[in-house]
Amino acid sequence: VKTWRVGVAGLGTVGGGLLQFLAERPDFAPAGGRAVVTGVSARNRSRPRPVDISGLTWFDDPVALATSPETDIFVELVGGSDGPAKAAVEAALKAGKPVVTANKALIAEHGAELAALAESAGVPLLFEAAVMGGTPAVKMLREAMVGDDVRGVAGILNGTCNFILSEMEAKGLPFAEVLSDAQRMGYAEADPTMDVGGFDAAHKVSILAALAFGCAPNFAAAEIEGIEGVDALDIRMAKDLGYRIRLVASADRAADGVAVRVHPSLVPEGHPLAETRGALNALFIEGTRIGRIFIQGPGAGSGPTAAAVAADIADVMTGATRPVFQAPAEDLKPFVAVAPTKR
Ligand code: HSE
Repeated sequence: VKTWRVGVAGLGTVGGGLLQFLAERPDFAPAGGRAVVTGVSARNRSRPRPVDISGLTWFDDPVALATSPETDIFVELVGGSDGPAKAAVEAALKAGKPVVTANKALIAEHGAELAALAESAGVPLLFEAAVMGGTPAVKMLREAMVGDDVRGVAGILNGTCNFILSEMEAKGLPFAEVLSDAQRMGYAEADPTMDVGGFDAAHKVSILAALAFGCAPNFAAAEIEGIEGVDALDIRMAKDLGYRIRLVASADRAADGVAVRVHPSLVPEGHPLAETRGALNALFIEGTRIGRIFIQGPGAGSGPTAAAVAADIADVMTGATRPVFQAPAEDLKPFVAVAPTKR
């Protein structure tokens, strides 16, 4: 039986969920192999965790964990587009280690250069957990839609914002109170501005755009508006008129480029996006041949996001390989941003 030694950097909501999953599922054996967490790294060594980490090798520096001879798969759950997360992922790829990450900011802002490193080392770089948590949006675009030409994607990609908007709507609670509930439930980013400012959804839709349109992620080209300006009165007025407010992220192919946008939108009651409540995420994918696909599911939280990380670990173990995006990294160009046309 082949044992894959997994090094996990970052033991917050998702890292804790991953350790718990692997501890509870000794039968998790893709391709007959075993995945065993052997090394960990985190900011705080002594914080209470769902799983005892005292028997694991502790690394103060995630780069040392990423490049350790005892790490066969490096899992990056530190977060942030630069700093230790980027350094560790680069180091792992340069050392020829497969990388699994939940880091949407990192992939949205540096995806093409990291894809080039992964492809020249001949190792996978997988990030299912970066978009829609446990709901397989990345796999759907990377694998199922590869035989189609995607026209566009649109949906709800931030669980925190959707939780806030739907709780404000259902219970008439003020923004700040609902945000602290989202933080307590493990949906919100360490810096909630990433969520409520629309940046997290923009990171995610930039990744989806790259997968959908065979280009490099280009977060800088996204038009972003968050939900900080949405108040109880907006929500009530929308409701009186038969609408819900949702933070919609979209990427549409146009003749001369791609329009990537995140903004609060009025969605009519009864529409699948209006009926997406709490921390759920939802996505429409429109293909030229397949037509329209709709997926909805958990987009944040420990269990669902850890499940997506585990699915990527399984893909590494089974040897599933594809280019990181649709085309080899050396052929990827950042898309040209264009103004949106009417949907
Ligand atoms: N803060 C993110 C969200 C977590 O609320 O959707 C999942 O990426």
